[in-house]
Amino acid sequence: MIVKGYHEPVLVAEIPKLLVKIPGVYVDGTLGGGGHSHAILQELLRRDFAEQSLVIGIDQDDNALDAAEKRLSSYSGRLVFVKGNFGDLQKIVQRVCIENQRPPVVAGMLLDLGVSSAQIDSPERGFSYLHQGPLDMRMDPAAEKSAADIINAMSERELANLFYRFGEEPRSRSIARSVVDYRERYGPILRTETFADIIRRREARPDRAIKTLSRIFQAVRIEVNRELDVLARVLEQSTALLSPLGRLAVISYHSLEDRMVKSFFVEQARSDWGPKGVGLREPLRKAGFSIVTRRAIVAGEQELSSNPRARSAKLRVLEKLAAGDTGEPI
Ligand SMILES: C[S@@+](CC[C@H](N)C(=O)[O-])C[C@H]1O[C@@H](n2cnc3c(N)ncnc32)[C@H](O)[C@@H]1O
Repeated sequence: MIVKGYHEPVLVAEIPKLLVKIPGVYVDGTLGGGGHSHAILQELLRRDFAEQSLVIGIDQDDNALDAAEKRLSSYSGRLVFVKGNFGDLQKIVQRVCIENQRPPVVAGMLLDLGVSSAQIDSPERGFSYLHQGPLDMRMDPAAEKSAADIINAMSERELANLFYRFGEEPRSRSIARSVVDYRERYGPILRTETFADIIRRREARPDRAIKTLSRIFQAVRIEVNRELDVLARVLEQSTALLSPLGRLAVISYHSLEDRMVKSFFVEQARSDWGPKGVGLREPLRKAGFSIVTRRAIVAGEQELSSNPRARSAKLRVLEKLAAGDTGEPI
């Protein structure tokens, strides 16, 4: 199933198969244009779980909610749309479950991280170095600080740290110097094309410029939307909300996210056997989860040829163990 227009979802065949195992509350924390929610709803119907289930679709972008509401209008009653940040997952799930007279436990949770094609392709949202627009990058247009606010307020050292930490940019210091130089000479940087030109001028080789631009724009976007902070929060909250046999699926698009997800999953699936050499018969703490995807799932050739965005996608899935199931120490 392909959703043309707002956003073409990645790994859309794999998500329902890996996520939908039991009836209950499903949360799509990154609703976007609703492509994954649609696939989840279809799977709930196919398995005859729909009557007992509810999907909660969360997005912090009003445009995404509008697009998804239009696309999924035929599922009214089975789906609740929420404008919010998945970092507030627990509060959102509790509120929606009370309103729908259900216990606040989750059978499946999906996070398809990052930005949608519609966001990237809208010049006025300021996410892309390929378009001319305000240097904005807020997924939630009502959020306090835009990319321009951040880029113009940070010191040279803070900028270098930002480009290095969130962009893994090897030339973070010289780019930070150029940004500050520009500000001192011409005033605040307010447009994507101005910011992109400053970065391009540091890069003599045009073939490397694209990678540098991607890394720096990624770093600023992560900072504007506090992406790694909210990811850490939602991972903790999701595992607390999952029912036994409930699953958490995360699709990440860059190594910073994927490393976080992978190490969080490993930690959740590990029993604590105490210090080495003690030789305990029982672990001090039994693992509460098992990792469904030993290796991250990536898109196949066919999907890659029709959806270039799938190139960097990595899907990992975690399952909460049923009562009495101890899981294997790994
Ligand atoms: C990659 S797109 C998801 C596309 C979606 N799976 C689909 O099928 O169309 C990511 C979406 O998640 C939203 N988003 C990202 N981080 C968020 C957060 N912390 N809270 C709520 N929504 C978020 C973005 O606004 C964007 O619409």
